[in-house]
This record gives sequence, structure tokens and C-alpha cells, in this order.
Amino acid sequence: MKIFLDTANLQSIKQWALTGLIDGVTTNPTHLSKESGDIKKLLKEICDTLPYGDISIEVTETNPQKVYAQAKQIAAIAKNVTVKIPCHKNYYDIIKKLVDEGISINVTLVFTVIQGLLMCKLGVKYISPFIGRLDDIEVNGIDIVEKMKFMIEEYNFEKTEIIAASIRHVKHFHDAIMAGADVATIPINVLEKAVTHPLTDRGIKKFIDDWKKLGIKQFP
Ligand code: E4P
Repeated sequence: MKIFLDTANLQSIKQWALTGLIDGVTTNPTHLSKESGDIKKLLKEICDTLPYGDISIEVTETNPQKVYAQAKQIAAIAKNVTVKIPCHKNYYDIIKKLVDEGISINVTLVFTVIQGLLMCKLGVKYISPFIGRLDDIEVNGIDIVEKMKFMIEEYNFEKTEIIAASIRHVKHFHDAIMAGADVATIPINVLEKAVTHPLTDRGIKKFIDDWKKLGIKQFP
């Protein structure tokens, strides 16, 4: 399973990149609105920070022809860019065209298994079901991920991977793993909580305290 960071914060990306755990980043216009400075430079730096990773950058145009042109420009930012396009019927034909041209596409704002299946038929690299936003409207988001996993296996859509997106808390992360998501894109605050456990901290302290009782100066 791959872990992506759901952020556009370069400092956090740089810190987490050092752990060797991070396989990519998903940015979106909301994440970018929280950053300052030259956004194009920032996106290039994010791509350079994880050269082996997959960096999703979202289109901001709405007219289909403009979305197509912008998608090509975004793809040219770096070799490891995946272009994020919303799952809207106005874009189906351009998504197909971009896929045929070899551009890596992450279809975002996916809320149903049917939307997911349609995008698999277009051969996109990723579909991103939004777990948290489904939970917000009292639909079980994780359930959709499980069903999408079944749909992909049942119909042999080998090209497409599921990114569990809109993860709001550690339980979402856990449930995305158990649902068989190929990728979980995790906000920094959720990842920070997920990697700690009080019993681990308490256990380390006890082992060190007990070790000190031996009074050994150098080991081994
Ligand atoms: C990632 O691709 C999505 O844009 C992101 O997870 C959305 O998260 P939100 O629903 O918490 O805004």
C-alpha cells in the first residue's frame, strides 16, 4: 500500500520524505491557498523533493478545452506529475484523450462506485473516493472504497488504483488499509497522530529505566 501526503506544505513534505515512508503527494487548490509565494515554484519543488514519488496537481480551469490545455501544461511541470481532474461528465472525453496521450490522471471528487467504474473504463491511473466528505453526508465512505476494490477486481481494471482521499482521522486511515485501498492520502496532522502510540512511548521509557538500573557505562 502506498502512502501519499495530502498537503502542499513543502516543509512538512521535506520532513516526511526523510522517513522513506512517503510514496507521493496530493495537492489541491485548497491546500495551495494555504501556502504563500510562487505557487508554480512550490509545485516544482514538491516534485523535486520526491523524485521517485507521484505528485498530483489539480486543474483549476472549468471549460473542458481549457482543462485539457491546462492538464498538458501541468503534466509538463515534472516527470512525476499526475494531473487531477474532477469526476464530471463534461471532462470524460478529455480525460480519455489525455489518457491516450500517456498522461497520468487522478480523477478526484469521486463519490460513487458507478463514477469509479466509468473512470476505470477510461483507463485512468487513480480514482479518488472522498471518504470524509461522504461521511459528512451520512454515507459510509469506507464502504464505497471496499465496493470499488471489489469492482476493480471483478472487472479486471488492472490499470486503475484507488486513492482513499478526504481522510480526516486515524480511524479513516486504518479503515482504508482494511478496505484494500491501493493508496491512502493522509493529511499531516492525521499521519502525526497515526505514527504514535502511548504504549510504545511508555514501553520505551520502561526499557530504558530498567536498563539504567544495571549501571552499565558502555554497551555492547
Ligand atoms: C485529495 O486528493 C483531496 O483533495 C483531499 O483529500 C480532500 O480532503 P477534504 O475532503 O478533507 O478537503
